[in-house]
Amino acid sequence: MSTQDSPPAGHIRSFVLRQGRVSVAQQRHYDEGMPRWSIPYAPHPIDLAATFGREAPKILEIGFGMGETTATIAAAHPENDYLGIEVHTPGVGALLKQIAQGELGNVRLIQHDAVEVVSHMIAPGALAGIHVFFPDPWPKKRHHKRRLIQPAFVHLLSQRLAPGGYFHCATDWEEYAQQMLEVLSGEALLENTAPGFAPRPEYRPLTKFEQRGLRLGHGVWDVVFRRR
Ligand SMILES: C[S@@+](CC[C@H](N)C(=O)[O-])C[C@H]1O[C@@H](n2cnc3c(N)ncnc32)[C@H](O)[C@@H]1O
Repeated sequence: MSTQDSPPAGHIRSFVLRQGRVSVAQQRHYDEGMPRWSIPYAPHPIDLAATFGREAPKILEIGFGMGETTATIAAAHPENDYLGIEVHTPGVGALLKQIAQGELGNVRLIQHDAVEVVSHMIAPGALAGIHVFFPDPWPKKRHHKRRLIQPAFVHLLSQRLAPGGYFHCATDWEEYAQQMLEVLSGEALLENTAPGFAPRPEYRPLTKFEQRGLRLGHGVWDVVFRRR
């Protein structure tokens, strides 16, 4: 790891990089798609309008996993631009495949730690929305410090929203859902759009994993706040 890539002092990573198998198709789309659709990490703010080649609402997604939700939302909302962040190479390859196959011109991605990307690359007030869907729950108490939704990072993210911009988290882990509600409620820049947990906004598709969980009686909680 070079010095430039080192996390800031006190910064605890919210992920552990697994090697993970990259399929032949994912590798091909990775090799072809990265130069076209990804933005290299650099520790200074980027001009999002120039990146996407237009003025349109910019929505940031942190930890897009295999990118199914990202691709579904981007295809259904061509009027918005979506910037996805993910560290896991098979997932990046999988989203690049969907971008190519769906001809999704409104998606860009950055393969890097989202905490550093948001700290250094996203200007204050630049975003119309933020999606954090099913972040790693880090269930063991001694790992809770690795969770993404914590006061300091939520404050940083809230500053990146334009007034009226939304902050949407979802989880199937009840105790983390409670933490999300508490942390976002404690952020002075934000106000809740619902009396507590929010109904699932129609733009967020049900994933297969979530459908299975719901059939088994497991819950899913959405938390949707807005910047004042
Ligand atoms: C449990 S998965 C959920 C993926 C996807 N959002 C979904 O709903 O299926 C969480 C993802 O967040 C990614 N992740 C965790 N911390 C991250 C960080 N700091 N920066 C970028 N990606 C991160 C992980 O690599 C993982 O793919």
